[in-house]
Parts: sequence; structure tokens; C-alpha cells
Amino acid sequence: MVLQINNIILIGFMGTGKTTIGKQVATQLNLNFIDTDQQIVQVSGMEIPKIFSEKGESYFRALENQVFQDVLNQSNQVISTGGGLVIEACNRQLLHRQRENGDLVIWLTASLNTLWHRLKKDDDRPLLKGENPREKINNLVQERDELYREVADYIIDTSEQAPNRVIAEVIELYNKGGS
Ligand code: S3P
Repeated sequence: MVLQINNIILIGFMGTGKTTIGKQVATQLNLNFIDTDQQIVQVSGMEIPKIFSEKGESYFRALENQVFQDVLNQSNQVISTGGGLVIEACNRQLLHRQRENGDLVIWLTASLNTLWHRLKKDDDRPLLKGENPREKINNLVQERDELYREVADYIIDTSEQAPNRVIAEVIELYNKGGS
């Protein structure tokens, strides 16, 4: 079986800049840009908050896994993934497989203060709705950190860096072949 190589896959928590960074990296490297959340909206015909409220999180996760598998049938892409993609073991297996076949998995991180600053006015993230969203962010980050770490080739902290610096770092890793 021929597996695709040379995708850059961005993982990390909501608000770490995966979409913003991914789009720019794709433009500069002349690769296709794919955002799994956008694909989910396209496939389902529903916005993400509506999927969560009407169908529930497990329906969303199943769709996310399906979309991710489909996206991985192509190569030469920058793939920005939803922040919760790594919580499903099947997605982590896919990420391990992609790494073995030459894809680069980059984990974008940010401090809690930075995440809070970036996410507090956001209405599109159903998991942060309700009481005490700052604490929810903190709890989810704690739960997920080891999962991101398990599948990442590299970590880039976006807290103190301008987006251009992060973009340059991703491109540098890609040009070095991830080594
Ligand atoms: C989620 C992150 C979101 C989106 C959904 C669930 C999560 O993507 O997939 O709201 O579980 O962290 P972003 O990381 O692009 O915001």
C-alpha cells in the first residue's frame, strides 16, 4: 500500500493558532490547506456548535475521525486539526502511522493565560460554554497534554511569539525534513 508523505499536521489545543498558522504555511510552501473542522462543517452541512448541541460530542468525534481518515488519503497538505482530535485512540494511531510514513506532526502550545486571552470572547467552541470556562480550559489542557505529547514530532510554544515567527519555525522544520 502506498501511503502519502509530506503532510504537515498541526495539532494542539483550541486557540493555539493551528488554522492561522496552517493557512500561511500552506501558502508559503505551495501546499494545500485543509482544516478538519471546516471539512466536518462541509460534510455535515452543520456548524460545529449545532453538531454538538443537536447530535452530541460522540457523533462529532465519529465524524471527525471519518474526515481525518479521508483527508489523509491525500498528500502535500498542511492539515489543521481540531483540538480534541487526539483524544480518540484511533486518531492517535493514524498520527503514528503518518509519522512513520514521513509526515510531520507539530504540536502548537500556549500558556493558560494566552489561551484564556485568545478564547474568552469566543462563541464557536461548545466545550467552553457554561460556568467557569477558564477552569474548563485548564482541565482540558491537563487531560490532553500527554496525548498531544505522545504523537508529536515537535512542539512550538506560540505564547510569546508573533505568528510570523511560528510560521517560519514550521517551514524550517519542514525544509529540514523534520530531522
Ligand atoms: C474542539 C476543538 C475545536 C472543534 C470542536 C472541539 C476540542 O477545534 O473541533 O469545537 O475538543 O478541543 P479548534 O481546536 O480548531 O478550535
